[in-house]
Amino acid sequence: MEVIRVKDYDAMSKEAASFLVERINRLKNPILGLATGSTPEGLYKCLIEEYKQGNVSFKDVKSFNLDEYVGLEKNDPNSYYYFMKDKLFDHVDISLDHVRVPNGVATDLQQECVDHEEAIKAAGGIDVQLLGIGANGHIGFNEPGTPFTSKTQVVDLEESTIQANSRFFNSIEEVPTQAVSMGIETIMNSKEILLLASGASKAGALAKLINGDVTEDVPASVLKNHPNVTVIVDEAAFAVVDGK
Ligand code: PGA
Repeated sequence: MEVIRVKDYDAMSKEAASFLVERINRLKNPILGLATGSTPEGLYKCLIEEYKQGNVSFKDVKSFNLDEYVGLEKNDPNSYYYFMKDKLFDHVDISLDHVRVPNGVATDLQQECVDHEEAIKAAGGIDVQLLGIGANGHIGFNEPGTPFTSKTQVVDLEESTIQANSRFFNSIEEVPTQAVSMGIETIMNSKEILLLASGASKAGALAKLINGDVTEDVPASVLKNHPNVTVIVDEAAFAVVDGK
């Protein structure tokens, strides 16, 4: 696991953007695994800027998102499909036919999980998977205790995750309690993984990832078993590792 320390959120976003631009330009038909949340927003802004400047094109990119809330339609402003369109897809030359966000309102959610998994395989697997990290150490919506052998599945969100994500909703009651999420094994099958962490709220989880054992109690710790992981972290998220 390579750890790159940067000053702050902006520096993390820029570093992550140049990391991805390099891969997108190098790979012929890049398959990206994408994430939502506050962490990658700055990165997506930087990618749009790089696109506008002609430094990168998304026309040959295919993407698969990590997760989606169960029960939210694509056009719901809190859905992750909407987030991706709003924060990235609508501003670059990616084809919407080449993006797949799990469908959280599929009538058969189990089949939707199988379909997401199969679509990733059919595309040839994910070249670079982008990840944030939850304050509880989750990756995707794989909460502590999720088996490392898990594939895309319907998951129950922890109370702490619902609480953390309620900032995007009018009230905590509106936060869905379930999601479709790529599993840990799905994530680990990616050829390369880029994890971003910014801010004091992630410092505890990051310390467990860097200094702790590999355990299903800290889902992100599984990344230590992957041969090609880069972590870009800002100073605030590094505080506990530094013993502050
Ligand atoms: P955040 O979420 O980027 O909104 O902090 C990250 C995560 O929970 O994985």
